[in-house]
Amino acid sequence: MKLARIMLLAVGMAAAVSLTAAAQDADTEKGIEKYRQMLREDPWSNPGLLDADRGETLWKTPRGPNKVSLEKCDLGKGPGKVDGAFAEMPRFFADAGRVMDLEARLLWCQEKLQGFAHADLIKRPHPGGGQPVKDTGALATYVASKSSGMKLSAKFAHPKEKESVALGEELFNRRSGPFDFACATCHAEAGKRIRLQPLGFLASPEGAKKVVGEWPAYRVSTTNVMTMQHRLVDCYWQMRLPEPEMGSELTVALISFLTKQASGGQISAPGLKR
Ligand code: HEC
Repeated sequence: MKLARIMLLAVGMAAAVSLTAAAQDADTEKGIEKYRQMLREDPWSNPGLLDADRGETLWKTPRGPNKVSLEKCDLGKGPGKVDGAFAEMPRFFADAGRVMDLEARLLWCQEKLQGFAHADLIKRPHPGGGQPVKDTGALATYVASKSSGMKLSAKFAHPKEKESVALGEELFNRRSGPFDFACATCHAEAGKRIRLQPLGFLASPEGAKKVVGEWPAYRVSTTNVMTMQHRLVDCYWQMRLPEPEMGSELTVALISFLTKQASGGQISAPGLKR
């Protein structure tokens, strides 16, 4: 019943979004806001929760060539500790010798514990529109949901963590590519938007706090969960730059910077996006 209601609303929304006449904008935005409000009033209607459940099953199921579960995966708070782990990421992991965000760490655990090949894990790691989020994304949705209600509290005290934030800030502001865009071109002003989409004001801590803790998020327009690594790929595409590798130093640095900006912000994952 609830899902049927969501489907109907999603179809309605897709139709509404395709109207481009400026006169329609205000009405459409109101409609979308109403839709968001309905979903917020009934948090259990967020379809992303199904992916969190799938992720939990994946976490506990023996998988990969080594046929072991991820229950010995150390997300920073000790092997198998999931509650609150996401709230303190990205962080430096001594065993890997590098800073990792949640998704990079999940790749690491799948590779080192379960024996999956790294190259396979990062080949087409994100779903197309309408496809469910891939396994690593479902795992990320599960782990992040176990920090929901907490605050983003990564410490960024280790020199490598500081280095990652600094690199992320540099990348955020650096213009490049055929359009000469930086992240800052679209995300460094309050109230900016593209067509009907308000752009997160990520250059300001207040703006970042509002949105960063909502990822991974269920995206109504593509009917699947989108993770933060996937979000970055989409923005790189908008900049007409080559797709960054999942879990790479570059993506982790940007996520470190965004998370530092949003420090103290509420985690409400999986969130809900247009
Ligand atoms: C050409 C403009 C443009 C550029 C440049 C751009 N983005 Fe985005 N960004 C968008 C759009 C459009 C959205 C999605 C808005 C929507 O779907 O409602 C978005 C969404 C986001 C979000 C989610 C914000 C939220 O509301 O939850 C993050 C985080 C983000 N971008 C990060 C980045 C980073 C990091 C870079 C640089 C690597 C970047 N963006 C570059 C246009 C851009």
